[in-house]
Amino acid sequence: MPSLLNDSRLLIGFPDYQKPAQRLASKAGIPYTDALIHHFPDGETRLRLPEALPEQVVLCQTLDHPNSRLVELVLAAATARDLGAKHITLVAPYLCYMRQDKAFQPGEAVSQRIVGTLLSQWIDALITVDSHLHRVHRLKDAVPVNPAINLTASPVMSAFLMKQIDNPFLVGPDEESEQWVASIARNRGFDYCVARKQRFGDQQVRVSLPEAAYRNRHIVLVDDIASTGRTLEDAALGLARFEPASISVLVTHALFVDDAQERLRRAGVSQIWSTDAVPHPSNALHLDHLLAEALNGCKISPI
Ligand code: R5P
Repeated sequence: MPSLLNDSRLLIGFPDYQKPAQRLASKAGIPYTDALIHHFPDGETRLRLPEALPEQVVLCQTLDHPNSRLVELVLAAATARDLGAKHITLVAPYLCYMRQDKAFQPGEAVSQRIVGTLLSQWIDALITVDSHLHRVHRLKDAVPVNPAINLTASPVMSAFLMKQIDNPFLVGPDEESEQWVASIARNRGFDYCVARKQRFGDQQVRVSLPEAAYRNRHIVLVDDIASTGRTLEDAALGLARFEPASISVLVTHALFVDDAQERLRRAGVSQIWSTDAVPHPSNALHLDHLLAEALNGCKISPI
């Protein structure tokens, strides 16, 4: 592969997240190249980067499929250092393992702290979006690098909804979603409310809606992450009883595992929208502008 020593910065993308990474590089005005990845039949990865790198490298990879992507990321960061990178910024629009922020049962791994510490051993700076910070409030306490920037997609979502729906009524399916729902609603003066959620297992949740005038309203369920989709599904089933004009879903991180989308459709959801933080057919909002601003404004300590 050619040397890229002539540019002061280089953004390296990965095959599973190539298009958003290329959009970001173009918006931020940074040269782009791919990490070349080969998956061996036994599941190991061979990774190759350009043979000489500039001092400042940006790795852009989102961290759904967390276990395999974390290993590839460590391979890339360590190799980048070997090839001359002195400062590595990770742009990971979806940051995995942020929900397990304490040992809920004696003996459980506190994955947030462990994965955050692992990342901090390989990267110098981090930019992510709507990271699931609940009991730990600051990203730098979860991933101790400087800067550790947790952007929010809320302004992008508010602007999107403004164009899509006349007078939407936003519903957050649990207390944790209030930070995002309130901020999206406040940006444009939308009505909103927040439900309560009890979780009994990976696939079992109960969402209790607050009393509100849902009838004939265009409801938008807003959350940071849709994983199994059970949270949104139970909320949608509850809302459908009030005969709203429509129910839509808007999330930052579209994990949507297994048949989550189909179940949401059956629960009465007509539109599913997400940002491109995680590649998915529902991606309708691009984050390149938001990320590029942060990347270019991000002060890098002198090397
Ligand atoms: C957790 O509280 C998050 O904000 C989401 O509500 C949660 O991850 C959604 O999970 P699922 O789609 O599996 O119900």
